[in-house]
Amino acid sequence: MSFVHFSVLKDECLQFLTENAPSNSYFADLTFGGGGHSFAIMDLDESYKLVGVDQDPDALKNGAKLIAEKQLGERVELLSSNFSKFPKLIKEKDPEIEFQGILMDLGVSSHQFDIPERGFSFKYDAPLDMRMNYEDDTIETAADICNTRDADELEEIFKTYGEERFARRIAEKIVEERPIASTKDLENIIFHCYPRNMRFGKIHPATRCFQALRIAVNEELGVLTEVLPQLVELLKTGGRLVVISFHSLEDRIVKRAFKELGGKDSPFRILTKKPVTPSKNEIAANSRSRSAKLRVIERI
Ligand SMILES: C[S@@+](CC[C@H](N)C(=O)[O-])C[C@H]1O[C@@H](n2cnc3c(N)ncnc32)[C@H](O)[C@@H]1O
Repeated sequence: MSFVHFSVLKDECLQFLTENAPSNSYFADLTFGGGGHSFAIMDLDESYKLVGVDQDPDALKNGAKLIAEKQLGERVELLSSNFSKFPKLIKEKDPEIEFQGILMDLGVSSHQFDIPERGFSFKYDAPLDMRMNYEDDTIETAADICNTRDADELEEIFKTYGEERFARRIAEKIVEERPIASTKDLENIIFHCYPRNMRFGKIHPATRCFQALRIAVNEELGVLTEVLPQLVELLKTGGRLVVISFHSLEDRIVKRAFKELGGKDSPFRILTKKPVTPSKNEIAANSRSRSAKLRVIERI
């Protein structure tokens, strides 16, 4: 299975992560995905080492193959985990460990979106799954959520995580029509909840609810909020945490956490007063980069 993902803000990430990095620096890429950022860091200096984390079995399989092909087995290690568990896992391995750079490139990869059976996209008809870790049966799928929550809970998910203005109407219709099994079942319901004159706008009516369900299934905002303060503690002096977010809810969490961490007299300082965003050229080459925002905090 081929794994396609264009790394976003790659040059900017490399600059922030490595501009002051001495030889033998140790990096962590907590959203390994297709490994684009990780391998670019490794290419810069052959003394660098990296630990890559992902919870997606496809990303890990593909990563292991690439590491072998590139003969990077001595320098790059992969961990199968939710990044929320990373601080504990890595401290158990080595209590003294410190990183020069930690990267988070949040959200889903193009691979996850574009493989129909993962159920992330309403473009394809597939089971409504959306688990990044599809091997973990303890995680509820998007279909489970649609089929078990009451209308109030569904409305809350669509409103909070999707900022969907027709959240109530959609939630009630789901409860009326369920069980819902596939992406197309859900797309169809949402589409018909939209007023006729709003069904063919620039953004497809199902976009916001699909985003909301994906965030709920993978508890994306909760794990991010929980882990940021723990990650900065893993940085060495001069080390940096670089976070790329793709929607306002994520960016707000990163911005607030950095503000709290980087207050007066704190050992951390924010390097990006305003978030760094992709150039026009990058957006033209990769439209999925258009909403990216990069923020950086450094241990001083
Ligand atoms: C945008 S992609 C990263 C792409 C990567 N930087 C590259 O250049 O190929 C995000 C990746 O992070 C993973 N991911 C997202 N949230 C995660 C979490 N909480 N724990 C572990 N992995 C996560 C996803 O499975 C996905 O593979």
